[in-house]
Amino acid sequence: MSNSSCNEISCMPEHVAVIMDGNGRWASAKGVPKFAGHKAGMEALKKTVRKSGELGLKYLTVYAFSTENWKRSEEEIGGIFKILIYYMQREIQEIHARNVKVNILGDYSVIPENAVAAVDKAIELTKNNTGLNFNIALNYGGRDDIRRGVVKLAEQIEKGELKSGDITEELISKSLYTADVPDPDLIIRTSGELRLSNFLLWQSAYSEFYFTDQLWPDFDEESLVKALESFEKRKRNYGGR
Ligand code: IPE
Ligand code: IPE
Ligand code: MG
Repeated sequence: MSNSSCNEISCMPEHVAVIMDGNGRWASAKGVPKFAGHKAGMEALKKTVRKSGELGLKYLTVYAFSTENWKRSEEEIGGIFKILIYYMQREIQEIHARNVKVNILGDYSVIPENAVAAVDKAIELTKNNTGLNFNIALNYGGRDDIRRGVVKLAEQIEKGELKSGDITEELISKSLYTADVPDPDLIIRTSGELRLSNFLLWQSAYSEFYFTDQLWPDFDEESLVKALESFEKRKRNYGGR
């Protein structure tokens, strides 16, 4: 079921997913604007991508903006996408040089036009890279993901291409944004919140969870290694034994 690479010495997850939470609280604690918190969060992301590549991780998925985050103020949303564009423009050459392949989970066509352009450019530039698969969940919601998958399958039934009885779990998995991505072995959430907040609902059926009180901007290479060490000690049963 899992392709995480295990031997007697170590067990590396194949796919790590991260709920990058706590930018706002980090900013409040420092007495700086929220924008500065999101910006510091991007620096933490840079470290995580770099370290994940160095460790030979195959898939890293980060939750950058949820379908519910549109409830935030226009000012904050604008700031988040500004930082995203800045990150894409400033980091993309290094990301590319590190053989990282950028992919988006979520309908990002609705984000500001210049952010769509920056994202498209990154996807195009890195499309043939063979190292770390770096998935950014952008305007992503687990329920929206499943709803879209259901619509796709329903359309195939309407066209007579599919019979309802032929819908398997695998077919559902293949109809999601993560069609080509294995389920996450490990889901990390920072900032002390103990919930999924609509992240990878279908895909997390047998994921291991790692929660830390550290706020996302404080998360660094050492934090990632600590999470991976915790994963190494887990015993996964998948309902067996
Ligand atoms: C996570 O940090 C970033 C996004 C949701 C875009 P928050 O902004 O949620 O930080 P807190 O939870 O308010 O501290
Ligand atoms: C989850 O964090 C979404 C991202 C990290 C992008 P939120 O801060 O939006 O989650 P809730 O609202 O506390 O559940
Ligand atoms: Mg939050």
